[in-house]
Amino acid sequence: MHLTAERLDRISPSQTIAITAKARALKAQGKNVIGLSSGEPDFDTPQNIKDAAIAAIQRGETKYTDVAGTMELRQAVCAKFKRDSGIDYKPEEIIVTTGGKQVIFNALMATIDKGDEAIIPAPCWVSYPDIVQLAEGKPVIVECDQNSGFKLRPEQLEAAITPKTKWFILNNPCNPTGAAYNAEELRRLTEVLLRHPDVWIFTDDIYEKLAYDGFKPATILEVEPRLKDRTITMNGCSKGYAMTGWRIGFAGAPLALIKAMDKLQGQSTSNTSSISQAAAVEALNGPQESIDGMVVVYKRRRDMVVEMLNQAPGIRCHKPEGAFYVFPSVHGCIGKTSAGGKRIETDEDFVTALLEEEGVAAVHGSAFMSPGHFRISYATDDESLREACTRIQRFCRNLK
Ligand SMILES: Cc1ncc(COP(=O)(O)O)c(C=O)c1O
Repeated sequence: MHLTAERLDRISPSQTIAITAKARALKAQGKNVIGLSSGEPDFDTPQNIKDAAIAAIQRGETKYTDVAGTMELRQAVCAKFKRDSGIDYKPEEIIVTTGGKQVIFNALMATIDKGDEAIIPAPCWVSYPDIVQLAEGKPVIVECDQNSGFKLRPEQLEAAITPKTKWFILNNPCNPTGAAYNAEELRRLTEVLLRHPDVWIFTDDIYEKLAYDGFKPATILEVEPRLKDRTITMNGCSKGYAMTGWRIGFAGAPLALIKAMDKLQGQSTSNTSSISQAAAVEALNGPQESIDGMVVVYKRRRDMVVEMLNQAPGIRCHKPEGAFYVFPSVHGCIGKTSAGGKRIETDEDFVTALLEEEGVAAVHGSAFMSPGHFRISYATDDESLREACTRIQRFCRNLK
């Protein structure tokens, strides 16, 4: 008898996780591998946040909470949205989830019917199209090229909207490109959205805190409050506070959508960890200086990586505004043969040969719906990054 359900055939395993696992296996065999494939801060969670979790355990906060999160955390989330973006949410318009990913899962599973379309600018984070497909919806991928800084243009958005469009999903700053939209750039997109009152808007702002050179990523409702009755503003603690393992995501949205997500979550995970929730209250309400320290380090690494990659023959790397990724093009390497005798026909060939011959693990662009590129996460110590870029330069110089 066939074990798995038909719905499982509609999704693929995460390719970033697959490559990270392959790199780990090569390391275990004694190979000198530098892993740049994982989207995870290398920083430790700040001490004040850890202390808040320990205090919560000692106070006995070890029980179920409301499915949507403790009142204290939902109030802290309201204060965060007001402070950072000027958005007014009430605690009942907030849901706290097991990582940011569960906001996406809940919102899309709770609202997409068969054949509904979700517009996703690409390059995009791999999970959006997969979750849309799991919900029997249709991802509508809109390609944004490197020459536009990987940003969606208003006319592209307008052209992608059809009577079946249920969602427009925007990730700002973006994984995998690091591209970010400021208020002015977002306004041009909101003008299009105002003309289409049936389209719901999902904004994934999880990298919001990680932006460089004074760039301020904006969020949809900060720019256009009139879209509030059909926008979900998602964020979380994973990236900005180096809390990936704690599993805290959250969102503000119209009450009807929050209730629908709460219903789904109540029949799946229920609340996220009570201890992580106490830690998240401290993350949001406590001192924010630790983020500034991380941003200084990430910026330094970004500048080094962009400079070194642009010295590698065949590679073109744009300098992104935020997140901790770069997404260089490998078009100049296609059709060549590596020192180890591998013919490079695709971005996937490029990253495979790079891993096997130079021990650098990166993710091919087609995993983000954008062939011809690869993604590097620079959330790794400076020395490893420098060594990895030196190896990439050597790999490219040796291509014939
Ligand atoms: C764009 C984007 N959104 C959401 C998430 C999910 O974050 P979390 O680990 O909080 O589920 C990630 C994590 O990689 C991400 O890159």
